[in-house]
Amino acid sequence: MNYNYEDNFWALIYEQYDQLSGCGIQELNFYLNEVKEIKGKCLEIGCGTGIKFFQILQNGVDIFGFDISKEMLEVLEEKAKQLKISNISKRISKQNMIDFKYSCKFDSIIIPNRTFLHNVSQKEQLDTLKNIHKHLTDSGKLILNFFQPKLNVLINEMEQFKQFANLTNPQTNEPISLYFKEKKDILNQIINIEWKFKTPNEESLTQMKVKWIYKSEFELLLKLAGFKTIEVFGDFDKNKLKTDSRELVWIARKT
Ligand SMILES: C[S@@+](CC[C@H](N)C(=O)[O-])C[C@H]1O[C@@H](n2cnc3c(N)ncnc32)[C@H](O)[C@@H]1O
Repeated sequence: MNYNYEDNFWALIYEQYDQLSGCGIQELNFYLNEVKEIKGKCLEIGCGTGIKFFQILQNGVDIFGFDISKEMLEVLEEKAKQLKISNISKRISKQNMIDFKYSCKFDSIIIPNRTFLHNVSQKEQLDTLKNIHKHLTDSGKLILNFFQPKLNVLINEMEQFKQFANLTNPQTNEPISLYFKEKKDILNQIINIEWKFKTPNEESLTQMKVKWIYKSEFELLLKLAGFKTIEVFGDFDKNKLKTDSRELVWIARKT
């Protein structure tokens, strides 16, 4: 069974899914404004099909990106062709956030859309943060967001498939129905999600794992990885974090 977004169906429908589930224009504008203000080189970890990557690039930022999913990157490359952006392979690569490598350093490293949560062990979390720390310039900033864990939501089990949305295959116009079910591993703070893609001719299953993180836990992880200045906000307008804030929005610096 395929894992996370390393799947053809995910790559096909990701942009429709993102419109229904993502944090939308506020999230895009937040990252765009931050990296424009920082200037210099930017890196997007888990750039996917390039929803934010292309907007940031077309706003004049010297952005690079990588993703673990070749299927998502193939969609990004196709979009680059349509946008007539040449030499996209100089900016994009297939790598894993726990051990990615570049010969240069970045002024900003961004991890939008909760992608950091795909690190499902403390070792993966710390390896990723230490690797990011190594790839930032001295004044560089790490900027990321993930959802705030809500205890009442996390204890709910969903053992039967539930329909998420009716989508369309952009290549054939055939309907694709998306279903999901979830099992929570409370001890290890992991949500095990199973997705089902149903078309008129086939059904396909993929798995996804997401490890939720609490505020003070992430502060400790950042400090352990060497970050010195840490700010956390409760939304993309940088309002104060509250108990009922949906997102944790982080900006961390080496100095
Ligand atoms: C929620 S999507 C976000 C895509 C994009 N950043 C956006 O905002 O549209 C998460 C992306 O992270 C990628 N990903 C998951 N685990 C990864 C890892 N260990 N290293 C690199 N990319 C990863 C997935 O393949 C997927 O494309």
